[in-house]
Amino acid sequence: MSLSLIVFLVCTSGVSSLEVKELSERVKMLPVSAVRVLSDLAKSTDVIRLTAGDPDFKTPKHIVDAALREAEEGLTHYTSSAGLPQLREAIARKLKVENALSYDPMKQIAVTNGGTGALALTFLALLNPGDRVLIPDPGWTNYKPMIIAAGGEAIGYPLRRVDGFKPNISEIEAMVTDRTKVIVVNTPSNPTGAVYDKDLLGELVELAVKKNLYIVSDEVYEKVVFDGHSHVSTATLPGAFERTITVNSLSKTYAMTGWRVGYAAGPEKVVSAISALNSALNSCPSSVSQAAAIAAINGPQDVVDKMVQEYRDRRNYFIASLNEIPGVEALRPAGAFYAFADFSSIEKSSVKMNQRLLSEARVVGIPGSAFGNAGEGYIRFSFASSMEELKEAANRMTVTFRRG
Ligand SMILES: Cc1ncc(COP(=O)(O)O)c(C=O)c1O
Repeated sequence: MSLSLIVFLVCTSGVSSLEVKELSERVKMLPVSAVRVLSDLAKSTDVIRLTAGDPDFKTPKHIVDAALREAEEGLTHYTSSAGLPQLREAIARKLKVENALSYDPMKQIAVTNGGTGALALTFLALLNPGDRVLIPDPGWTNYKPMIIAAGGEAIGYPLRRVDGFKPNISEIEAMVTDRTKVIVVNTPSNPTGAVYDKDLLGELVELAVKKNLYIVSDEVYEKVVFDGHSHVSTATLPGAFERTITVNSLSKTYAMTGWRVGYAAGPEKVVSAISALNSALNSCPSSVSQAAAIAAINGPQDVVDKMVQEYRDRRNYFIASLNEIPGVEALRPAGAFYAFADFSSIEKSSVKMNQRLLSEARVVGIPGSAFGNAGEGYIRFSFASSMEELKEAANRMTVTFRRG
């Protein structure tokens, strides 16, 4: 290539006198994920990261083996956009036996790219521009950007520590307008760990029926419950089945976050829209991961019990340690694997508090404000991290706050 041609290419590549058009308004509205930023920030340093909700356990061996075996035998092609029929059948059986929910596997269940995929496609399937979705505040960080990306508007309904982080039905009722189309219910909750009982879910469903709302029931932490609490699926309550999209995932239950398998189950009309969107946006869920998911659902479940016992021990230790720090208060979560601790009497701004924890204690969590306005003053710590890390984190924080 001649020198003049190289000079010409360098001068013309990437630099244009034309102003390139802006990104979409939707994208510009997306909040930055605090979880991702903080997880990356602390990666290379001597910092204990209690940031991500990613189990530290390995995916159980029989699940990995099944995926390897199926891949070797040629399960390496596209599958149906709604997922392998055997997997949908396994999910339908599980939902019937464990959750008392009867779904037709071929019409009412779609396998997705994790629970994230199920939720995002559900919002895309349900929302028109300007439609409102009521989401828990504090609530999982991804609901809002997913709803914005689908053209909707996310409105947080507050959950307060005095109420055990349970929703106040009359307060939610007052927030419903004629633009409200969906309410998101998340039990067990990320970040608070609250688990809703049948009566409370019954009241939420009554409200949804009265106001004619869809319910998106995010149940990805269903197995991580402690102290005899049991998980109730929202769709089992009277009047709920025909308006509820039940979302679940293998990520948290089987330590399978990287495999990306989740699912949505609900009315045929909604599920077929989710499958059509899955086909358009993703083609299908990963074939090999679906083989792993079949082995996980149909295989032995004692692996799950062992992980949950370990989370319970970590919770007991870590919550007690947090409450020993003067000025810090943390409820014992009934489910999920997060400590949601109130630091507001030390520092009102959760971003500043988290920064202080990072620089002084070399421990990092997620500032509560990332989960919504009602999370301000709190820090979320994930105890999907080893007991050693939790002990070291608790020691470091105790020393820091003893110094004052
Ligand atoms: C409340 C909640 N729902 C859904 C998800 C989605 O998980 P996944 O996409 O790995 O299934 C998460 C992950 O952190 C979560 O905390």
